[in-house]
Amino acid sequence: MSRFRFDLFVFLLASVHFAPALSDLVITKLDRRIDLTSQIVRMTLTLRVENTGPDPVSEVSLTFPEHQANNLALLVAVSTEGRGKNRGSATNLPITVKQPENSPQSLIWYVASLPKALGKGESLNMDALAVFTHSLKPFPEKITQAEPQLFLFQDSSHFTSPYKVKIQSVIVKLPSENVESYSKLENTKYSGSEIKYGPYENVPALSYSPVVIHFPSNKPFAVAKELVREIEISHWGNVQVTEHYNLIHGGAQSTGEFSRLDFQARPNVRGASAFRNLIAMLPPRAHSIYYRDAIGNISTSNIYGDSSKTLLEIEPRYPMFGGWKTSFTIGYGLPLRDYLFQSGGTRFLNFTFGSPMNDVLVENLTLKVVLPEGSKDISVSIPFPVKQSQETTYSHLDIAGRPTIVVEKVNVIPEHNQYFQVHYKFSNISLLTEPLMLIFGFFSLFVACIIYMHADFTISKSSSSYLAKQQWDEVLATIQQLQDIINRCLSIHDKLEASLRELSRTGDVQVCKAVRKSADSWLKDLSKDLKPLLALLQSSPQATHILPKVEELVLKERDLQEKIMLKHTTVVDSYEKKSGGRDIENRVAAIQQKISSLKQELDDLLEFVEDI
Ligand SMILES: *[C@@H]1O[C@H](CO)[C@@H](O)[C@H](O)[C@H]1NC(C)=O
Ligand SMILES: *[C@@H]1O[C@H](CO)[C@@H](O)[C@H](O)[C@H]1NC(C)=O
Repeated sequence: MSRFRFDLFVFLLASVHFAPALSDLVITKLDRRIDLTSQIVRMTLTLRVENTGPDPVSEVSLTFPEHQANNLALLVAVSTEGRGKNRGSATNLPITVKQPENSPQSLIWYVASLPKALGKGESLNMDALAVFTHSLKPFPEKITQAEPQLFLFQDSSHFTSPYKVKIQSVIVKLPSENVESYSKLENTKYSGSEIKYGPYENVPALSYSPVVIHFPSNKPFAVAKELVREIEISHWGNVQVTEHYNLIHGGAQSTGEFSRLDFQARPNVRGASAFRNLIAMLPPRAHSIYYRDAIGNISTSNIYGDSSKTLLEIEPRYPMFGGWKTSFTIGYGLPLRDYLFQSGGTRFLNFTFGSPMNDVLVENLTLKVVLPEGSKDISVSIPFPVKQSQETTYSHLDIAGRPTIVVEKVNVIPEHNQYFQVHYKFSNISLLTEPLMLIFGFFSLFVACIIYMHADFTISKSSSSYLAKQQWDEVLATIQQLQDIINRCLSIHDKLEASLRELSRTGDVQVCKAVRKSADSWLKDLSKDLKPLLALLQSSPQATHILPKVEELVLKERDLQEKIMLKHTTVVDSYEKKSGGRDIENRVAAIQQKISSLKQELDDLLEFVEDI
């Protein structure tokens, strides 16, 4: 509280030394209405100005204290001639900020230029709308889940006009009939949800009479710290809109533990200051609407629609309390014909500027309009000042990239949701580049397919080359089977040799004999399987060049098999006759040598066959 008291003090001090320069104008009647029913404060002014001086006047100044001007998001003024029922149509007045030299620092001047100068004794009606953001201060700044959210609002019961005001009043509209406290001045009336100050008569220029109102509000204080809106034009019939939000509850900070149980049981008491959903008002023919965050699609959203609008109700994953943040993206497609028009040789996009969500204040808006590749002579017209630049966006099939208009603006309020236009030139040849690329691509693919199919069809089923190919495949399959059999034989050889090593360790002849018996029967079976394979290869003309090696492989295996059997019999016999170890070794030494060399030869042959 003490801080803005100080502001007022400085302001009043400064104004004492200032003698207004434009004192020939007098405001004969001024009505102000201040709407505090949402986080955005709207002040409407209805005034009648009279020129009491001898010289014509062509400007009317509206002045606001610096602390208000800093939060001024929008100021528009219109003038109307005549009075009451005879009021003419409204004319928009251009407004510029112009600080007279002798003005106090703490007062900011907004000068409206009149369409025609006001002569001596003439009067004019003016209506103005001033919209302020960040003007409601949570007090207390921190509350728990169960506490009510209260705000402070400060202003003056006298409008800080540089002109004398003959009669004025101000009505402040609150969100509910409840008020914690309010400044009680002369002529103050509180009824329903409105507080009226005035009427006050003959108030001198630059008068300031502070008013402070402390009141509860549970309106959603949804503030988009950042909103990036992308509008992508496709000349193939679609406008794609994608909006990335970084949202915070901008009201009183939530402290203490949050209990979802409490919240769910009595949301109006234990979470009155939270908001659970937001409504986006999308155009009527919006389609392919989605709403997602970093985790994925959020299904707790609803879409309602009629012929004039589409309502998208989005519900974040948790209720939003003061200071809580959430990030999400919504996207939708729109028919191009509703937004893109032609005039002369140029095309223009006519689209709305701000967020489609009415209750959201956007602190930083970045608007990107992605034009089709090949667009030229681009110009943008937006009905209020913005920061503007250009970049290039690339997507599939782009060669030069898509020209992209980037517009940035701070403190965007629903009133900024006006139409803006992007004009550009585009030759229809450019429109055809991508399809031509596609057509060319598909054509090439098609040609390649034909060539391939053609090539394949030359091997017709009756032709000799087709037969040869089939036979060769058969040969390969046969060799594969044959190879498997040889490998199985080799593993049985290994088992036999292992049984001999086991014998030398345990001396158990019976076990060794059992292994031999089963090995004999397996090898017999395998040799039976081998016969037809070998016969097939011998009969195939395709196999002639590899047949010698294959036959050699089979013979060598048989040879090895015999030698191993011989070794086995010899060793087992020696054990039965209880010969000494050295004796046995001597008897099998020669066989063992033969076995080793055969194994080597077999390995080489197998390697050769594998490479076929
Ligand atoms: C999200 O929903 C959209 C539209 O219903 C769908 O096309 C998309 O595949 C969904 N994405 C995920 C990740 O579920
Ligand atoms: C843009 O569209 C709006 C709504 O359809 C229309 O009122 C306005 O005149 C259009 N602006 C231009 C420049 O075409």
